[in-house]
Amino acid sequence: MATTTKTKKASTKPTGNTGKMKDSEFHKFFVDELKDIYWAEKHLAKALPKMRKAATSPELVEAFEKHTQETEQHIATLEEVFSMLEEKAAAKKCDAMAGLLEEANGIIEETDQGTMIRDAGLILAAQKVEHYEIATYGTLAVFAENMGHSEVASLLNQTLENEKATDVLLTQIAEGTINAQAVEE
Ligand SMILES: [Fe+2]
Repeated sequence: MATTTKTKKASTKPTGNTGKMKDSEFHKFFVDELKDIYWAEKHLAKALPKMRKAATSPELVEAFEKHTQETEQHIATLEEVFSMLEEKAAAKKCDAMAGLLEEANGIIEETDQGTMIRDAGLILAAQKVEHYEIATYGTLAVFAENMGHSEVASLLNQTLENEKATDVLLTQIAEGTINAQAVEE
């Protein structure tokens, strides 16, 4: 993996524009967006344990635990992406994730511990996060492909698939018993 960037730089096709692209406006824009999702992932990794503590259903607790580990992996993957692009891994505040996490906090504050209303609310907050990440990784993977960074695209697509799977899992958990019980509370 580590040799990929070098290989790409040495070749002229199909990614021969890699060197030239490093100074391009779009490259800068792309790296800026990577910094944004890097910030988002790092802050999500800190917020997920709090969401796990606030949850009641064992399935939801487990899902939050699992996704905390996966989020750590997403952070490591982004660091690999920065390194492939020969860019410094740096975080730039993501206002959207900051807002989504603030909303998750608000749900915890407004609901009682041990209720399914809170669990349903936590799933709502977590799915908003997942959808934001799905949109981000989906677009960034396409950008990477367009720029000729197919290895980067493949890494971003791996994370994208994991975010999608998490979203599906959260839906299954909600529809299992939580939503039905929350309606009765
Ligand atoms: Fe993630």
